[in-house]
Amino acid sequence: MDRIMSLRKPKSPIAEAYRLIRSSIEFSNVDKELKVICVTSSIQNEGKSTVMSNLAVSFAKLDKKVLIVEGDLRNPSVHRMFNISNINGLTDILLEKKNFTECVHCNVVENLHILTCGKIPINPSEMLSSKKIRSFIDELREHYDYIFIDAPPVGIVSDAGIISTYTDGCILVVGSGEVDVEMARLSKERLEKVGANILGVVLNKFEHKGNTEYYSYYEDDSKRRSRRKK
Ligand SMILES: Nc1ncnc2c1ncn2[C@@H]1O[C@H](COP(=O)(O)OP(=O)(O)OP(=O)(O)O)[C@@H](O)[C@H]1O
Ligand SMILES: [Mg+2]
Repeated sequence: MDRIMSLRKPKSPIAEAYRLIRSSIEFSNVDKELKVICVTSSIQNEGKSTVMSNLAVSFAKLDKKVLIVEGDLRNPSVHRMFNISNINGLTDILLEKKNFTECVHCNVVENLHILTCGKIPINPSEMLSSKKIRSFIDELREHYDYIFIDAPPVGIVSDAGIISTYTDGCILVVGSGEVDVEMARLSKERLEKVGANILGVVLNKFEHKGNTEYYSYYEDDSKRRSRRKK
Protein backbone atom coordinates (compact mmCIF):
# COMPACT_ATOMS: atom_id res chain seq x y z
CA MET A 1 0.00 0.00 0.00
CA ASP A 2 3.04 2.23 -0.48
CA ARG A 3 1.33 4.37 -3.10
CA ILE A 4 -1.66 5.21 -0.90
CA MET A 5 -0.43 8.50 0.49
CA SER A 6 -3.91 9.19 1.92
CA LEU A 7 -3.08 6.32 4.26
CA ARG A 8 0.67 6.46 4.62
CA LYS A 9 1.04 10.22 5.06
CA PRO A 10 -2.40 11.65 5.82
CA LYS A 11 -0.91 15.04 6.69
CA SER A 12 1.10 15.37 3.47
CA PRO A 13 0.21 17.92 0.73
CA ILE A 14 -0.63 14.98 -1.51
CA ALA A 15 -3.21 13.61 0.93
CA GLU A 16 -4.55 17.15 1.24
CA ALA A 17 -4.85 17.38 -2.56
CA TYR A 18 -6.94 14.21 -2.50
CA ARG A 19 -9.16 15.68 0.20
CA LEU A 20 -9.72 18.68 -2.09
CA ILE A 21 -10.73 16.41 -4.95
CA ARG A 22 -12.97 14.53 -2.51
CA SER A 23 -14.68 17.80 -1.55
CA SER A 24 -15.23 18.69 -5.21
CA ILE A 25 -16.87 15.31 -5.75
CA GLU A 26 -19.03 15.68 -2.65
CA PHE A 27 -20.06 19.13 -3.82
CA SER A 28 -21.06 17.77 -7.23
CA ASN A 29 -23.19 15.24 -5.35
CA VAL A 30 -25.72 17.86 -4.29
CA ASP A 31 -27.92 18.01 -7.40
CA LYS A 32 -27.74 14.42 -8.56
CA GLU A 33 -26.72 11.10 -7.03
CA LEU A 34 -23.03 10.59 -7.53
CA LYS A 35 -22.27 7.19 -6.16
CA VAL A 36 -20.60 5.11 -8.86
CA ILE A 37 -17.48 6.79 -10.22
CA CYS A 38 -15.05 5.46 -12.79
CA VAL A 39 -11.48 6.61 -13.17
CA THR A 40 -9.73 6.44 -16.52
CA SER A 41 -6.95 8.08 -18.56
CA SER A 42 -5.87 8.29 -22.19
CA ILE A 43 -3.08 5.73 -22.09
CA GLN A 44 -1.47 3.31 -19.65
CA ASN A 45 0.59 4.33 -16.68
CA GLU A 46 -0.80 7.84 -16.15
CA GLY A 47 -1.76 6.99 -12.58
CA LYS A 48 -5.43 5.90 -12.72
CA SER A 49 -5.13 3.18 -10.10
CA THR A 50 -3.05 5.37 -7.79
CA VAL A 51 -5.52 8.27 -8.01
CA MET A 52 -8.57 5.99 -7.69
CA SER A 53 -7.16 4.15 -4.64
CA ASN A 54 -6.16 7.34 -2.84
CA LEU A 55 -9.57 8.87 -3.47
CA ALA A 56 -11.37 5.77 -2.26
CA VAL A 57 -9.31 5.77 0.96
CA SER A 58 -9.96 9.47 1.38
CA PHE A 59 -13.75 8.83 1.28
CA ALA A 60 -13.47 5.81 3.58
CA LYS A 61 -11.79 8.06 6.13
CA LEU A 62 -14.92 10.21 6.12
CA ASP A 63 -16.75 7.15 7.46
CA LYS A 64 -18.36 6.56 4.09
CA LYS A 65 -18.87 2.95 3.07
CA VAL A 66 -16.70 2.58 -0.02
CA LEU A 67 -16.18 -0.22 -2.53
CA ILE A 68 -13.44 -0.43 -5.15
CA VAL A 69 -14.26 -2.58 -8.17
CA GLU A 70 -11.51 -3.64 -10.55
CA GLY A 71 -12.76 -2.68 -13.99
CA ASP A 72 -9.51 -3.29 -15.83
CA LEU A 73 -10.08 -6.91 -16.74
CA ARG A 74 -7.12 -6.92 -19.15
CA ASN A 75 -4.43 -5.58 -16.84
CA PRO A 76 -5.79 -5.74 -13.30
CA SER A 77 -3.70 -4.09 -10.59
CA VAL A 78 -5.93 -3.16 -7.66
CA HIS A 79 -4.97 -6.36 -5.79
CA ARG A 80 -1.30 -5.40 -6.05
CA MET A 81 -1.98 -1.87 -4.88
CA PHE A 82 -3.55 -3.20 -1.67
CA ASN A 83 -1.53 -6.46 -1.35
CA ILE A 84 -4.59 -8.69 -1.44
CA SER A 85 -5.28 -11.90 -3.33
CA ASN A 86 -6.91 -11.97 -6.73
CA ILE A 87 -8.03 -15.59 -6.69
CA ASN A 88 -11.74 -14.75 -6.71
CA GLY A 89 -13.27 -11.55 -8.01
CA LEU A 90 -15.66 -9.78 -10.36
CA THR A 91 -15.32 -12.23 -13.27
CA ASP A 92 -16.17 -15.19 -11.03
CA ILE A 93 -19.34 -13.41 -9.92
CA LEU A 94 -20.32 -12.54 -13.48
CA LEU A 95 -19.78 -16.17 -14.51
CA GLU A 96 -21.88 -17.23 -11.49
CA LYS A 97 -19.06 -19.32 -10.06
CA LYS A 98 -18.94 -17.38 -6.78
CA ASN A 99 -21.11 -14.91 -4.97
CA PHE A 100 -20.18 -11.41 -3.84
CA THR A 101 -19.57 -12.39 -0.20
CA GLU A 102 -17.11 -15.07 -1.27
CA CYS A 103 -15.12 -12.59 -3.36
CA VAL A 104 -15.17 -9.22 -1.63
CA HIS A 105 -12.27 -8.23 0.62
CA CYS A 106 -13.87 -6.46 3.57
CA ASN A 107 -12.32 -3.59 5.47
CA VAL A 108 -8.95 -3.70 3.72
CA VAL A 109 -8.84 -0.22 5.21
CA GLU A 110 -11.62 0.64 7.66
CA ASN A 111 -14.84 1.18 5.64
CA LEU A 112 -13.15 0.19 2.37
CA HIS A 113 -14.12 -3.04 0.64
CA ILE A 114 -12.44 -4.26 -2.53
CA LEU A 115 -13.56 -6.51 -5.36
CA THR A 116 -10.59 -7.56 -7.46
CA CYS A 117 -10.72 -8.88 -11.03
CA GLY A 118 -10.64 -12.64 -10.47
CA LYS A 119 -9.59 -14.74 -13.44
CA ILE A 120 -8.69 -12.66 -16.49
CA PRO A 121 -11.45 -13.34 -19.05
CA ILE A 122 -11.00 -13.86 -22.78
CA ASN A 123 -13.89 -11.47 -23.53
CA PRO A 124 -13.48 -8.44 -21.23
CA SER A 125 -15.55 -6.04 -23.36
CA GLU A 126 -18.49 -8.47 -23.51
CA MET A 127 -18.32 -8.98 -19.75
CA LEU A 128 -18.18 -5.26 -19.09
CA SER A 129 -21.13 -4.56 -21.36
CA SER A 130 -23.31 -7.44 -20.10
CA LYS A 131 -26.71 -6.97 -18.49
CA LYS A 132 -25.35 -8.93 -15.57
CA ILE A 133 -22.72 -6.36 -14.62
CA ARG A 134 -25.27 -3.55 -14.91
CA SER A 135 -27.70 -5.21 -12.54
CA PHE A 136 -24.83 -6.23 -10.25
CA ILE A 137 -23.60 -2.64 -9.94
CA ASP A 138 -27.19 -1.49 -9.37
CA GLU A 139 -27.54 -3.97 -6.51
CA LEU A 140 -24.29 -2.74 -4.98
CA ARG A 141 -25.61 0.84 -4.97
CA GLU A 142 -27.88 -0.11 -2.10
CA HIS A 143 -24.99 -1.18 0.08
CA TYR A 144 -22.34 1.50 -0.44
CA ASP A 145 -22.01 5.28 -0.30
CA TYR A 146 -19.37 5.33 -3.03
CA ILE A 147 -18.22 2.77 -5.58
CA PHE A 148 -15.01 3.45 -7.50
CA ILE A 149 -14.33 1.52 -10.69
CA ASP A 150 -10.76 1.38 -11.96
CA ALA A 151 -11.16 1.46 -15.75
CA PRO A 152 -8.65 0.74 -18.54
CA PRO A 153 -7.31 3.63 -20.68
CA VAL A 154 -10.03 5.22 -22.79
CA GLY A 155 -7.67 5.94 -25.68
CA ILE A 156 -6.68 2.31 -26.14
CA VAL A 157 -9.76 0.10 -25.68
CA SER A 158 -13.51 0.73 -25.58
CA ASP A 159 -13.95 -0.67 -22.05
CA ALA A 160 -13.84 2.66 -20.18
CA GLY A 161 -16.57 4.07 -22.43
CA ILE A 162 -18.68 0.99 -21.74
CA ILE A 163 -18.12 1.25 -17.97
CA SER A 164 -19.03 4.94 -18.03
CA THR A 165 -22.55 4.05 -19.22
CA TYR A 166 -23.43 2.58 -15.82
CA THR A 167 -21.52 5.03 -13.67
CA ASP A 168 -22.73 8.40 -12.41
CA GLY A 169 -19.49 10.18 -13.17
CA CYS A 170 -16.06 9.77 -14.65
CA ILE A 171 -12.69 11.21 -13.66
CA LEU A 172 -10.05 11.60 -16.35
CA VAL A 173 -6.49 11.32 -15.08
CA VAL A 174 -3.86 13.12 -17.13
CA GLY A 175 -0.26 12.15 -16.53
CA SER A 176 1.75 15.32 -16.86
CA GLY A 177 4.36 14.94 -19.60
CA GLU A 178 2.89 11.61 -20.65
CA VAL A 179 0.07 12.74 -22.93
CA ASP A 180 -0.31 15.96 -24.87
CA VAL A 181 -3.30 18.27 -24.75
CA GLU A 182 -4.68 16.92 -28.02
CA MET A 183 -4.68 13.35 -26.76
CA ALA A 184 -6.36 14.35 -23.51
CA ARG A 185 -8.96 16.31 -25.47
CA LEU A 186 -9.64 13.27 -27.70
CA SER A 187 -10.16 11.11 -24.62
CA LYS A 188 -12.60 13.63 -23.21
CA GLU A 189 -14.47 13.58 -26.54
CA ARG A 190 -14.56 9.79 -26.57
CA LEU A 191 -16.15 9.76 -23.15
CA GLU A 192 -18.60 12.51 -24.08
CA LYS A 193 -19.66 10.60 -27.19
CA VAL A 194 -20.97 7.74 -25.05
CA GLY A 195 -22.72 10.19 -22.74
CA ALA A 196 -20.27 9.99 -19.84
CA ASN A 197 -20.65 12.57 -17.11
CA ILE A 198 -17.09 13.86 -16.83
CA LEU A 199 -16.67 15.19 -13.32
CA GLY A 200 -13.25 16.63 -13.88
CA VAL A 201 -9.65 16.03 -14.76
CA VAL A 202 -6.88 15.14 -12.33
CA LEU A 203 -3.49 16.35 -13.47
CA ASN A 204 -1.12 13.78 -12.06
CA LYS A 205 2.69 13.62 -11.86
CA PHE A 206 2.88 17.36 -12.30
CA GLU A 207 6.23 18.74 -11.20
CA HIS A 208 5.65 21.59 -8.83
CA LYS A 209 8.60 23.28 -7.16
CA GLY A 210 10.57 20.08 -6.99
CA ASN A 211 7.66 18.02 -5.74
CA THR A 212 6.94 15.34 -8.34
CA GLU A 213 3.83 14.09 -6.63
CA TYR A 214 1.43 16.95 -7.00
CA TYR A 215 -2.19 16.66 -7.99
CA SER A 216 -4.59 19.21 -9.41
CA TYR A 217 -8.25 18.81 -10.10
CA TYR A 218 -10.03 20.72 -12.81
CA GLU A 219 -13.74 20.57 -12.79
CA ASP A 220 -15.44 20.38 -16.14
CA ASP A 221 -15.92 24.07 -17.13
CA SER A 222 -19.47 23.67 -18.38
CA LYS A 223 -20.53 22.21 -15.02
CA ARG A 224 -18.94 25.06 -13.10
CA ARG A 225 -20.66 27.61 -15.34
CA SER A 226 -24.07 25.96 -15.04
CA ARG A 227 -23.74 25.83 -11.25
CA ARG A 228 -22.85 29.50 -11.11
CA LYS A 229 -26.02 30.37 -13.01
CA LYS A 230 -28.19 28.68 -10.35
N1 LIG B 1 1.71 11.38 -8.73
C1 LIG B 1 2.63 10.48 -9.00
N2 LIG B 1 3.93 10.79 -8.83
C2 LIG B 1 4.89 9.87 -9.11
N3 LIG B 1 4.64 8.63 -9.58
C3 LIG B 1 3.37 8.28 -9.76
C4 LIG B 1 2.28 9.18 -9.48
N4 LIG B 1 1.13 8.54 -9.78
C5 LIG B 1 1.45 7.32 -10.22
N5 LIG B 1 2.79 7.16 -10.21
C6 LIG B 1 3.54 5.97 -10.66
O1 LIG B 1 3.22 5.73 -12.03
C7 LIG B 1 3.10 4.33 -12.28
C8 LIG B 1 1.73 4.04 -12.86
O2 LIG B 1 0.74 4.29 -11.88
P1 LIG B 1 -0.64 3.52 -11.89
O3 LIG B 1 -0.46 2.04 -11.85
O4 LIG B 1 -1.48 4.14 -10.86
O5 LIG B 1 -1.12 3.95 -13.35
P2 LIG B 1 -2.30 3.37 -14.22
O6 LIG B 1 -2.75 4.47 -15.10
O7 LIG B 1 -3.31 2.75 -13.34
O8 LIG B 1 -1.56 2.26 -15.07
P3 LIG B 1 -2.24 1.11 -15.96
O9 LIG B 1 -2.68 1.78 -17.21
O10 LIG B 1 -1.13 0.14 -16.18
O11 LIG B 1 -3.39 0.55 -15.19
C9 LIG B 1 3.36 3.63 -10.95
O12 LIG B 1 4.70 3.22 -10.92
C10 LIG B 1 3.11 4.71 -9.91
O13 LIG B 1 3.87 4.50 -8.75
MG1 LIG C 1 -4.15 0.81 -13.34
